[in-house]
Amino acid sequence: MSVDTTDVGDDTTALVREQAVRDLPHDALAEHGCGGEVAFNLLSNELLLDGSARLNLATFVTTWMPPRAEALMGLTADKNMIDKDEYPQTAEIERRCVNIIGRLWHAPGTGDVTGTSTTGSSEAAMLGGLALKWRWRERMKVGGKPTDRPNLVTGVNVQVCWEKFCRYWDVEPRLVPMEGDRYHLSAEGAAALCDENTIGVVAVLGSTFDGSYEPIGEICAALDELAARGGPDVPVHVDAASGGFIAPFVQPDLVWDFRLPRVQSINASGHKYGLVYPGVGWAIWRERNALPSDLVFNVNYLGGSMPTFALNFSRPGSEVIAQYYMFVSLGAEGYRRVQRGSSAVAQHIAREIAGMGPYRLLTDGGDLPVFAFTLAPEVANYTVFDVSARLREQGWLVPAYTFPENRQDLSVLRVVVRAGMSRDMADLFLDGVRKQTASLEGLKTPLPKRPDDEVSAFKH
Ligand SMILES: Cc1ncc(COP(=O)(O)O)c(C=O)c1O
Repeated sequence: MSVDTTDVGDDTTALVREQAVRDLPHDALAEHGCGGEVAFNLLSNELLLDGSARLNLATFVTTWMPPRAEALMGLTADKNMIDKDEYPQTAEIERRCVNIIGRLWHAPGTGDVTGTSTTGSSEAAMLGGLALKWRWRERMKVGGKPTDRPNLVTGVNVQVCWEKFCRYWDVEPRLVPMEGDRYHLSAEGAAALCDENTIGVVAVLGSTFDGSYEPIGEICAALDELAARGGPDVPVHVDAASGGFIAPFVQPDLVWDFRLPRVQSINASGHKYGLVYPGVGWAIWRERNALPSDLVFNVNYLGGSMPTFALNFSRPGSEVIAQYYMFVSLGAEGYRRVQRGSSAVAQHIAREIAGMGPYRLLTDGGDLPVFAFTLAPEVANYTVFDVSARLREQGWLVPAYTFPENRQDLSVLRVVVRAGMSRDMADLFLDGVRKQTASLEGLKTPLPKRPDDEVSAFKH
């Protein structure tokens, strides 16, 4: 299809130009482009249909960064993280970030911390899981035992990246179900499912379902006891996708990291509470020996010999630079202020919602600045899915979803508070919730069910 862009003079407005590109194909490459300015207008108009990122209380991922960080990211968008020989300073900045994060999580020793940047926690989880699998296989080979039936023990609440890890790398997932008011992994549940084929236990610092911290100290203690009784000696990986950048600043006395000798590796998302836009995560090992050397590739075709442990090859360097910018510009005190601020706002919203009447809190924002709530059993005329839909009409994105085994009966709403959600915005949100709740409470008969409600399983 050809597009006539000849008859659109310089003073023609973007609207008139849009007429000229009305037939521009969407799913095929047009023979002639419409030009940069018109393309910019077309795209920025189309993207208005997306939800507003700042009103998105569903995502854990950063939706606001300071303008200087944005400028720096724009300036460094051309840097490829993998070209470490060509961009040695970007590689140096990654090294510094790994050391900063490793020290934040009490990695032992004083030398360089073992770790890498990734595209996010999902890639970091794959790398952490692979290291566990490799080390387990080595242990089994030394003992002359078969290596064809590895398993990984987690709570059923783990994020989908661990299910992916198990499927992609042929590991049996052993999921401890929820029970009553326990919505995440328990120490006894974890130890009970371990055997000599267990490559590791994954404990989550900040469950995606409700923001709660799993009892990592207790899980490690139960595994210590299992080993002391002659059972398998099972390492722990902590999925601290969100909590890795919250606990050190909001709950500094909580012992969840490399202070626990059983914790071998930890992942976190720089693009969640690390305060960077999407595209950066971190995988850190407690020491060099925790990362099998045959998982690390040395490539020489970029000049020099560079070690890499990653699933991707090329990826942006700008996110890593932005991470370092945030560390340098905020410092520990700045992170403390930001994260404690989010925590206070989350707990304020949770308290107010609890006081509205029909809602029951599952969590209160005291772990991650995240909480989940449900409806009291006597509410019969509407569901959490109706509340979510009503809030969406006002622009607020608050997901509603059902829980997994053994609490499929439970449907909740979840609010994630991030930097940039001020107390003022929180109060505007609460006004919206009050208004919609009053309207729903006024119903005389039940709203019809939407077909998707019951199967609205967890997506984030
Ligand atoms: C506990 C947990 N692990 C892993 C992930 C995946 O993180 P990413 O989006 O950085 O890949 C998430 C995302 O929400 C999460 O909450």
